[in-house]
Amino acid sequence: MCGIFGYVGKRMDGPSVVLEGLKTLEYRGYDSWGVAVVPEGNGNRKKIVIKKRAGKIGDATVDDLPKSSYVFGHTRWATHGGVSDINAHPHVDCTGTIAIIHNGIIENYEDMKKVLAKSGHRFASDTDTEVAVHLIEEYAKRIMFTKAVQRAFNEMEGLNAIIVLDTRERQLVAVRNGSPLVVGFGDGENFIASDATALLPHTKQVHFLEDNELAVVSDDNIHIYNAQTGSRIRPKKQLLTWSVTQVEKGKFPFFMLKEIHEQPGIIADIAATAGGQAEKIAARIRASFGTYMVGCGTASYACIAGSYLFAKIAKRHINSAIGSEFGYNLDFLTPKSLVIALSQSGETMDTLDAVRKARSTGAGIFALVNVLGSTLYREADAKLLIGAGPEKGVASTKAFTGMLAHLILWAYAYTGNGKEGQAILMKATRAAKEVLLPSYVTKITKLAKRLKRSRHIYAIGRGLSYPTSLEAALKIKEISYIHAEGFAAGELKHGVIALVEKGTPCIAFLPNDETYGANLAGAMELKARGGYIIGISYKPHEVFDYYMPVKDVGEATIIPNIIVAQLLAYYLTIERGFDPDMPRNLAKSVTVK
Ligand code: F6R
Repeated sequence: MCGIFGYVGKRMDGPSVVLEGLKTLEYRGYDSWGVAVVPEGNGNRKKIVIKKRAGKIGDATVDDLPKSSYVFGHTRWATHGGVSDINAHPHVDCTGTIAIIHNGIIENYEDMKKVLAKSGHRFASDTDTEVAVHLIEEYAKRIMFTKAVQRAFNEMEGLNAIIVLDTRERQLVAVRNGSPLVVGFGDGENFIASDATALLPHTKQVHFLEDNELAVVSDDNIHIYNAQTGSRIRPKKQLLTWSVTQVEKGKFPFFMLKEIHEQPGIIADIAATAGGQAEKIAARIRASFGTYMVGCGTASYACIAGSYLFAKIAKRHINSAIGSEFGYNLDFLTPKSLVIALSQSGETMDTLDAVRKARSTGAGIFALVNVLGSTLYREADAKLLIGAGPEKGVASTKAFTGMLAHLILWAYAYTGNGKEGQAILMKATRAAKEVLLPSYVTKITKLAKRLKRSRHIYAIGRGLSYPTSLEAALKIKEISYIHAEGFAAGELKHGVIALVEKGTPCIAFLPNDETYGANLAGAMELKARGGYIIGISYKPHEVFDYYMPVKDVGEATIIPNIIVAQLLAYYLTIERGFDPDMPRNLAKSVTVK
């Protein structure tokens, strides 16, 4: 949450470099944005110039800012202090010569604020962040700037990442504990960002900061230190594998639509390349005594699907858990247990927290994660990249189906029949292409027009279609703001059915599996109460008011099924006039608890 981008180097259009970086990072938070510029010339007496606004960046420019080669900026997902121009980052000290941008929550900021106010510091905002810059100002009166940042940071409680600049220096000082930061090595210029995708137009050589690492970024050097001891650390340079075009929208109006359309290609790639890895993870699962899949939101639904896939295909029980709840339910973990964490970003704090607690019991940690170098990627004992490419739409799409594709391969590999897993994924690729054809999309847009004024939408499924229903409902509610709920169809009669009125849209997932008959009964029960039934199935049925055909591709039918739901959520959002890439109140990486 919150996007951070800093530049120091040879380009005088630093404000534009930073603004472009912020646009790439905006999916991390879009409550407000801001840029701080150190103007060229004027020796040590220059003051920082700041432009900051509440709201999304949109068409904003930084043409009105002075030229500069020493700049940083921020996009905010608000925690402390409402969404306003004043609370937008960067924040400055009393002298206007030190500025800070921040991602995280300073848990002890109130105590710090009282002490600083007593010694005469004046605060312009309601944020926790501003307190940190005044504390640094206080320390910088007596010790070197870098040491002042280090000392102030070590007094901050909570999970935080900050970058600080001082007009008397020509270096960005950054430090993290919990929230991500990555430095990028250029030629006569260097960069820092909260997410490597923003660095792609400039460099592919990066170092991902570990917790309690402090980076001093200047034109020609990036030095890394241990933030506690101050000792020098050699950077671990890595080469980014993603390309710039992957983080552009291309011909699509929104990232979400682009990412939905990328799915057949991603599934085919996974089918073609991930078989060997699937054998290895299957062997680890076989050797473990108790396997747990853990993730949050959409990734947690992939965990539920993983549990069904393993039961059905591999006849092996795998537990699934929500990241934020896992810690309360750990007493049974032993060093023989295996915890598999699923995450697109690799930065979700609830998932990381679960993994860290599991590690303390001695359990093995495996990560299925999309972002190279992310915290989860670095902390796991063993890991596998999902291979979905950068996902920028806030609502997860291709990372989810990518996770499902790996899980299908793993379950088949467990039975010693990996080839069958690959074969059904190739079939799923073709089925997914069919639901992305223009004629099919037209059918979905017609349905979206029909449903756009609905107050509620319900989705039902059994077995593998239960997590499908949960995910379909999540996609619909988080971007279209129509209330939607997914249910295990059997639960209808235990209370849920009371919600259904004449005309209530109900999506029924009816693949060609052992759930068909019982699930159809659920659809009929809904119809009998006036429900408008949208059947997503391999064959039509008279109970359907609207039929969306999806080919039967065995257990992998979950993939085209969910793509239909993603498309419906997307077009409902367009019909209702909202931005599917930046739904209100949300941010892509949830790095707070
Ligand atoms: C929903 C969505 C979220 C994420 C969740 C976990 O569309 O994107 O529910 O799935 O925040 O994120 P990752 O996978 O990055 O750990």
